[in-house]
Amino acid sequence: MKGHRLYIDGEWVLSDSEAFFDVVNPSTGLVIGRMSKAGADETKRAIDAAAEAYKKWSVTPPNERGAILRRAYELLMENKREIAEAMTLEQGKPLKEAEGEVAYAASFFEWYAEEAKRIYGETIPSWYMNKRIMVLRQPIGVVAAITPWNFPAAMVTRKIAPALAAGCTVVLKPATQTPITAVRIMALLEQAGLPKGVVNLVAGPANDIGEALMKDTRVKKLTFTGSTEVGKLLMQQAASTVKKVSLELGGHAPMVVFEDADLDKAVEGAIATKLRNCGQTCISTNRFYIQESISQEFIKRLAERLKTMKLGDGFEEDTDIGPLIDNKSYLKVKHHIEDALKKGAVLEYGGGLKHVGATENGGYFIEPTIISGICKDMIISTEETFGPVIPILTFKTEEEVILAANDTNYGLAAYLFTESLARSMRVSEALEFGIIGVNDGRPSTAQAPFGGMKESGIGREGGKYGLEEFLETKFISMAL
Ligand code: SIN
Repeated sequence: MKGHRLYIDGEWVLSDSEAFFDVVNPSTGLVIGRMSKAGADETKRAIDAAAEAYKKWSVTPPNERGAILRRAYELLMENKREIAEAMTLEQGKPLKEAEGEVAYAASFFEWYAEEAKRIYGETIPSWYMNKRIMVLRQPIGVVAAITPWNFPAAMVTRKIAPALAAGCTVVLKPATQTPITAVRIMALLEQAGLPKGVVNLVAGPANDIGEALMKDTRVKKLTFTGSTEVGKLLMQQAASTVKKVSLELGGHAPMVVFEDADLDKAVEGAIATKLRNCGQTCISTNRFYIQESISQEFIKRLAERLKTMKLGDGFEEDTDIGPLIDNKSYLKVKHHIEDALKKGAVLEYGGGLKHVGATENGGYFIEPTIISGICKDMIISTEETFGPVIPILTFKTEEEVILAANDTNYGLAAYLFTESLARSMRVSEALEFGIIGVNDGRPSTAQAPFGGMKESGIGREGGKYGLEEFLETKFISMAL
């Protein structure tokens, strides 16, 4: 079985211990690859390499940095199928969805290839006529990028592309469940002509690698996507050396469907937000607020649409929904459904759970499930489920639903469906979330700022905002 290597200072290397960890196919529970297991020592060497490479990369002309990013975009698109296959194998999402993710991942290289050339400073009129004030934007330094398993390609490029455009160098730690997609992307970056040490990849136990990254004073910036719990811990560790942080954390997205909505659009929107990646998306809707007068019709149409969707192995031609990532996720989703039903919720559709894996490590499938009659004491109404469960709540008025939707510590994404322009503007402005989808269940795109308010995170990824995260602001006061 192929053993994948770490990438440090332009070399594909094994860890000192020569130990590996297994990578499992979530559809079958079978081991499909092995990844070299790094720890603190390998991480330190990766930081050494990134710090050394920074000296040249940070002063490489922006158009040259941009040209490498552009080439990385082209290579990712040329190798879309092969990377998608690696992703489906280690992550489980249907192959057509994985191909979509590779294109999404590539779009960050495409966008930041251009942005690299547009890092503008400023001059400010001084109140003292013998002085000139200049503001420069400079790369922040070595970046620690820690990425999740749910989007093994796009979360890597959403971090690496703006960092490289800014002139930063990177130590990347991909999730242990999905390191192979990241290895493939690294190989393409190497092929695109990225100089050695500019991006380094270490995979292994989060505690050892995370701690080594956070305590090193040469690492100036942390960019992390993952749970709110781990984000808080990393933020504490980053505080010891006052690193700049951007955190893209958990969500508890509401989707509000008003009675003046186009119901077919709302049903498609619900599917897009909830069933993409089997509901394992930070911006997945976790609370569906449907105006009372249309709730039965919405449930009926949604259930009819769900009947047409196929659950299965991501490699089967017509699969729409893949497995959950592992047993822990399965137990959590199962618990959310059972807890709601025990406390009086009504099962409207689905509810089927099955384990078809050859081992306990994978093969966990949950049917898309609609439950209604959700009330506040059910876990599902306060915690992120990260699975294909659609909890329905009803409401009477706009004011009431805005209060309910905002009643959470999370603030990543929210969705609303209405045909009224005035209402869409009014409600968008009132919702306390970083991303609002108006009649749109899939708002993510490379050009726009992705990120959350409250405990859903700090900072933004994507667009010109994503670049800001990797830049320092320097003010020069020049007396003439
Ligand atoms: C995420 O779930 O963290 C990312 C989803 C997206 O980019 O749309």
